[in-house]
Amino acid sequence: MTTITLTIDPAFRVGPVRRRTFGAFVEHLGRCVYTGIHDPEHPSADADGFRGDVIDLTRELGVSTVRYPGGNFVSGYRWEDGVGPRDQRPRRLDLAWHSTEPNLVGVDEFMRWTKASGTEAMMAVNLGTRGVQEALDLLEYCNVKGGTALSDQRRANGAAEPYDIKLWCLGNEMDGPWQIGHKTAHEYGRLAAETARAMRMIQPDLELVACGSSGVPIPTFGQWEQTVLSETYEYVDMISAHAYYAEEDGDLGSFLASAVDMDHFIDSVTAVADGVRAHKKLAKRIHISFDEWNVWYQKRAESVPPSGDDWPVAPVLLEDKYNVADAVVVGNLLISLLRHTDRVHSASLAQLVNVIAPIMTEPGGRIWRQTTFHPFAQASRYATGEVLQVAIDAPTYETAKFGDAPLVDAVATRDPETGAVALFAVNRSTTETVTLEVDSRSIPGLRVLGATTLSNPDHTWVATADDDTAVLPRDNDSATLDGGRLTVQVPPVSWNVVRLGA
Ligand code: AHR
Repeated sequence: MTTITLTIDPAFRVGPVRRRTFGAFVEHLGRCVYTGIHDPEHPSADADGFRGDVIDLTRELGVSTVRYPGGNFVSGYRWEDGVGPRDQRPRRLDLAWHSTEPNLVGVDEFMRWTKASGTEAMMAVNLGTRGVQEALDLLEYCNVKGGTALSDQRRANGAAEPYDIKLWCLGNEMDGPWQIGHKTAHEYGRLAAETARAMRMIQPDLELVACGSSGVPIPTFGQWEQTVLSETYEYVDMISAHAYYAEEDGDLGSFLASAVDMDHFIDSVTAVADGVRAHKKLAKRIHISFDEWNVWYQKRAESVPPSGDDWPVAPVLLEDKYNVADAVVVGNLLISLLRHTDRVHSASLAQLVNVIAPIMTEPGGRIWRQTTFHPFAQASRYATGEVLQVAIDAPTYETAKFGDAPLVDAVATRDPETGAVALFAVNRSTTETVTLEVDSRSIPGLRVLGATTLSNPDHTWVATADDDTAVLPRDNDSATLDGGRLTVQVPPVSWNVVRLGA
């Protein structure tokens, strides 16, 4: 059996664990909103029509921020359609997903949902078909106390207090030719800069995110960030990154190494941002909002929007069913995000319910957890305090997509207040159980509090409404700690969490 040595040391501190790393995303897309978070017919629905069971699982998942309302949807969205009396709200064509938007849920309902779910809103403005004025209008509606036309409209609509939304996305994926109102980097950079500058005239302490690239493979990757940041650097706090991964052509080895690409993405954007900083001779640093990331099988039929005269409300779209390998990759992507906590200040799993989601619902019926629910919930729960880089001495294997990849990847967290240490590790081997030998001697007095493993002899197992519990993170009894050396065996294609404490 291969033995891999890892070292955990408080000196390897990267930065704080950020709650915002555990954000998610709710888009008006498919069944994410309608029959997802919102389903008035459901027995658990509240007065707004929000499903209580979805709220419960959102809390269990440990979600911090929720990005809203898109996504591609936002680039054609008129936020005014979604406020005021419901029976007077217009139905609109949603060009992004070839659907009909009934506008039964809008800003006010969503903000009530964030309150019910204990989450923080990350609001996106439309910089596709709209511009500075409409962004200012939405900000006035949401954040101005009262005494102006739009803030008084909010009050009349039932929200006496301002929402005080801090996090704002300046558009969505404006680099993508698929985007409504797609722009060149220069066109977008100018618009984003002017929008940000004006928004800060209302509220200087906003946290603003400019659109970065929609993935490393997009031809403008790097150059886009360079141009956009040259225009916006002084006015924004973060630049976004989006990445989706999938097992293609049976190449499980590459798929399991997806986090190698995410590492590269983050490191590249960091380098470009720091290059612009040097050129501008500024002290301020730009951070990354990885506000769309997940496994997404884009080539599957359920990712193809309707066409022709068919403009349904809440069609089944992007309802990927995730297997055990997908969950291991999701866990590994979380490892990458945590490892970059010095530069990734916000992240959103895309998405939350039904649409490439950890939570699935039947309209009016059952709810269940996908395999990908578990690594997210565990990382959100057990990552506390500070992120520690883990020194890993592991053999590599060759991948077709991402070059040589280490067989094992890991990150650790340590809470200086409680002394709790958590090790998150994946075994990317498709065949071999490996032994992890973890040197933790620099943190004396630890013992094993618990160890779990998510894996299955058949890594293609998927959860369903009938059975979402046959494969769960299970206790891993092989974990022992002796003389500051932790030993644990981790099976092939597995996500593992070892918790240590005094
Ligand atoms: O999350 C699904 C879609 O992926 C979003 O609408 C878009 O921003 C991205 O391309």
